[in-house]
Amino acid sequence: MPLLPEHALFMAPMVDLSHVAYQELVRSFTGCDLVYSEMLNARIVPDENPRTSVYLKWTRLDDLIVQIAGNDPARMRDSAARLDALSPFGIDVNMGCWLKKVTCHGWGAGLMKDPSRAGAVVEAVRKVVNRPLSVKMRIGYSPDRRAMLDFADMLVDAGIDFLVLHARTVQDGMSRRARWEYIAALKEHVKVPVVGNGDVVTPADALDMFQKTGCDGVMVGRQALVKPWIFRDIRALLAGHEPPAPPDLKGVMLHLLDLLSGHFPPDVALKRFKTAMVWLSQNLAFGHHLAKGVSREKTLDGARACIADAFERGIT
Ligand SMILES: Cc1cc2nc3c(=O)[nH]c(=O)nc-3n(C[C@H](O)[C@H](O)[C@H](O)COP(=O)(O)O)c2cc1C
Repeated sequence: MPLLPEHALFMAPMVDLSHVAYQELVRSFTGCDLVYSEMLNARIVPDENPRTSVYLKWTRLDDLIVQIAGNDPARMRDSAARLDALSPFGIDVNMGCWLKKVTCHGWGAGLMKDPSRAGAVVEAVRKVVNRPLSVKMRIGYSPDRRAMLDFADMLVDAGIDFLVLHARTVQDGMSRRARWEYIAALKEHVKVPVVGNGDVVTPADALDMFQKTGCDGVMVGRQALVKPWIFRDIRALLAGHEPPAPPDLKGVMLHLLDLLSGHFPPDVALKRFKTAMVWLSQNLAFGHHLAKGVSREKTLDGARACIADAFERGIT
């Protein structure tokens, strides 16, 4: 059986956002094959209490890839072993996060600076992971194609099953357009499946990425926060149909609020809802007013009322 479904679609790992409630929201629209968790800190995963943790939370595991971040092979192995025992679809090692607060510890994309440590991490994790193991990486510190391919070869030799490439360098951060030509180069070079990531904004972009790069899967990050139904629309386009009309946005916002309050303590749910509203409100011409209004609310009921009021008054 192939490792990934044909034209596999993925929701990207996103700190504070790709949590259980957003996963549920995305699943409710269908079309997304595999969802990534937010990155989990390998220093805390081995000791985290699943009954009280706001991170170790899920409703489904068969389509979930849990991402771990760290650079200590033993800690990464222990985290991976604990998560593997829960039977998710897969485990991912974060080698793509470019933020200084992460790379300065040699984590995330920091591992791309130290290939021997990156290899040691993957080898340690591979020993305890009995399911698909992926690495989400960037191009590297500079747009050096050969260096990217050598790094990918090293990961494949260390035992990974597929690769996700966020097609930017570390220096690029989140600016400039993603360099899809590196996804094509990686796909042509490695024998494992390649998932492309970066700047899929519309369903047509996803089709374009499949066509232009030959990638096996497409991962969507920010637009899955703005339009959690985007995977349904990509699926429609892949099948040759027009995407359906967008869902009722107010309903989507309130559904997310309900999901959050069902899964998290009220303070965490409210904080996470405020973070999500920054993205969901981008569907509205004046959505920043609504996001700002919600950000001032002190309770979940207040946030609910703020949204209801905004839509009632048509000031969105
Ligand atoms: C708010 C936010 C949080 C992110 N957190 C993570 C993370 O935890 N792990 C990771 O590998 N990438 C993380 N990323 C990067 C995304 O997974 C993705 O690679 C990036 O947004 C590019 O894809 P896009 O153009 O579809 O958004 C994050 C991105 C954003 C915007």
